[in-house]
Amino acid sequence: CGIVGYTGQRPAVEVVVEGLGRLEYRGYDSAGIALVGADGLAVEKRAGKLANLRSALVSRPVPPVGATTGIGHTRWATHGAPTDRNAHPHTDCDGRIAVIHNGIIENFAALRTELEGAGHRIVSETDTEVVAHLLEEFAAGGLMEAMRRVCLRLEGAFTLLAVSADEPDVVVGARRNSPLVVGRGDGENFLGSDVAAFIAYTREAVELGQDQVVELRPSKITVVDFQGLPAVTRDYHVGWDASAAEKDGYDHFMLKEIAEQPRAVADTLLGRIGQDGRLALDEMRLSDQELRDINKIILVACGTSYHAGLIAKYAIEHWAQLPCEVEVASEFRYRDPILTRDTLVIVISQSGETMDTLMAVRHARGQRSRVLAVCNVNGSTISRESDAVLYTHAGPEVAVASTKAFLTQLVACYLVALYLAQVRGVKFGDEITQIVERLAQTPSKVSEVLSTVEPVRALARSLADERCVLFLGRHVGFPVALEGALKLKELAYMHAEGFAAGELKHGPIALIDRGLPVVVVVPSPSGQRVIHDKIVSNIQEIRARGARTLVIAEEGDDAVGRYADTLIHIPAVPTLLQPLVATVPLQVFACELATAKGHDVDQPRNLAKSVTVE
Ligand code: G6P
Repeated sequence: CGIVGYTGQRPAVEVVVEGLGRLEYRGYDSAGIALVGADGLAVEKRAGKLANLRSALVSRPVPPVGATTGIGHTRWATHGAPTDRNAHPHTDCDGRIAVIHNGIIENFAALRTELEGAGHRIVSETDTEVVAHLLEEFAAGGLMEAMRRVCLRLEGAFTLLAVSADEPDVVVGARRNSPLVVGRGDGENFLGSDVAAFIAYTREAVELGQDQVVELRPSKITVVDFQGLPAVTRDYHVGWDASAAEKDGYDHFMLKEIAEQPRAVADTLLGRIGQDGRLALDEMRLSDQELRDINKIILVACGTSYHAGLIAKYAIEHWAQLPCEVEVASEFRYRDPILTRDTLVIVISQSGETMDTLMAVRHARGQRSRVLAVCNVNGSTISRESDAVLYTHAGPEVAVASTKAFLTQLVACYLVALYLAQVRGVKFGDEITQIVERLAQTPSKVSEVLSTVEPVRALARSLADERCVLFLGRHVGFPVALEGALKLKELAYMHAEGFAAGELKHGPIALIDRGLPVVVVVPSPSGQRVIHDKIVSNIQEIRARGARTLVIAEEGDDAVGRYADTLIHIPAVPTLLQPLVATVPLQVFACELATAKGHDVDQPRNLAKSVTVE
């Protein structure tokens, strides 16, 4: 969910709705605001996207007129369907306190029973509404004190914001396990799930810690911990501005972010490869000795970031020669992963807030393993709680389906693999030096792919009426196939599956039917020739059974052309780096196909960019 709070001199309705617009990628099932002024508190909320709330506000402006304090919420539903009633804010019995919430309050059922027993009338199905009623119970000591006392009664993960008609220039916030940042302005202050909420007004931010309560007044920010003691916070300057979070003339953020990939890859490499070709990753905060002591790596992530982890495994095992496992974060801590001090757990997360991944970090650290986060958001919870961080410098990624963050995650993982090889003294002759050189050239290779994707667009449009598309790959092309399929599911709502091409004959080949589109990612013929040749055989096998073959292959790969119904060329790069160029046409393919179907590319149904519940 996305959360905004404001108190200052401007009309709060404008600041809050504008902020919600920038956070809508975090959830878009419903949206709502609460404004507070001298003449009381008012709430407006609507199921559906923010546009519904905007039109409601136009047709029926919410009193109090001229309010300069307010909170707003854009929801990704957990408890209760996305209806007007379940939308946030929720209020207490008298409608004098309004609350918004991100996370899950696990003991809400018990609290609800208790509150109903005490005469409170709870009208929604959400876990949030109990907070408004609890705040009412504790209201006598002021809103901040009430919030602190309420938090002590809550179990689970939450960011909460509240306003009260009794304190019309105050917004109170609290956080446990869910993100919340303060924006410091001049005579005005902001709260947001991330800095995008207030980047149009200020680039000065204050990072809140775990279990803290903040009281915002126009010229004062007070932070205490849940015990009421003054808390330590960290101020920082945001390195990008509002224009980085705009569409810049593109129809969708996703198109803009796809186009930004050469720059994002270059920025992630910047300053990390020395003149002599040696890597410098000192920022990682793990000493060379600690890296030498590692005897196993486990990569943990969700969604697209998990696919980056799958690719990283090939690179780490090959270059650093360390055993490597990869696991989806939601499974990791519920089995019994064997973790020791010498296990390095690498978590990959664009947002740095994904709850499944955060829980994996805590589990691994609890077992005394070292955790390295590959993260895109500075100051995010995962980056702060990990032992070491390697930032991807993709810039803000707004489209829900990840593109540029994925490519930069790959770059960061390659850097880690090569750095481990360097520090551990793995001997490869010149291979490592050559790979570092080739990695440094990848931004221009990604640009090359982008300049030749027009046929991919045409192909995507021609497939808009298909029901299913399969994706095949081998070696690092297998996770690329999984990512291609995920993109198509997310954006085009089509049945799409990725398979290891060698696995085809063990089952999936039964799916092949006349005309079924199958995308095949072909490894470089100059790498391991044997995998290349095997996939060429796989293409023939499916073609013989009637599949329509859409083949992604390196320029100059003459062996595949004759078996491809459509051939898409990508530049030649070393096998392990191929995902950096092979993924790009698949992103364009999914984006174009979804557009042809008339879907909302940036905000696909049922999804959210940052999933802060387990
Ligand atoms: C959500 C998004 C995915 C993303 C995943 C992991 O499910 O819809 O696009 O890959 O979260 O997000 P993270 O921020 O941890 O990389």
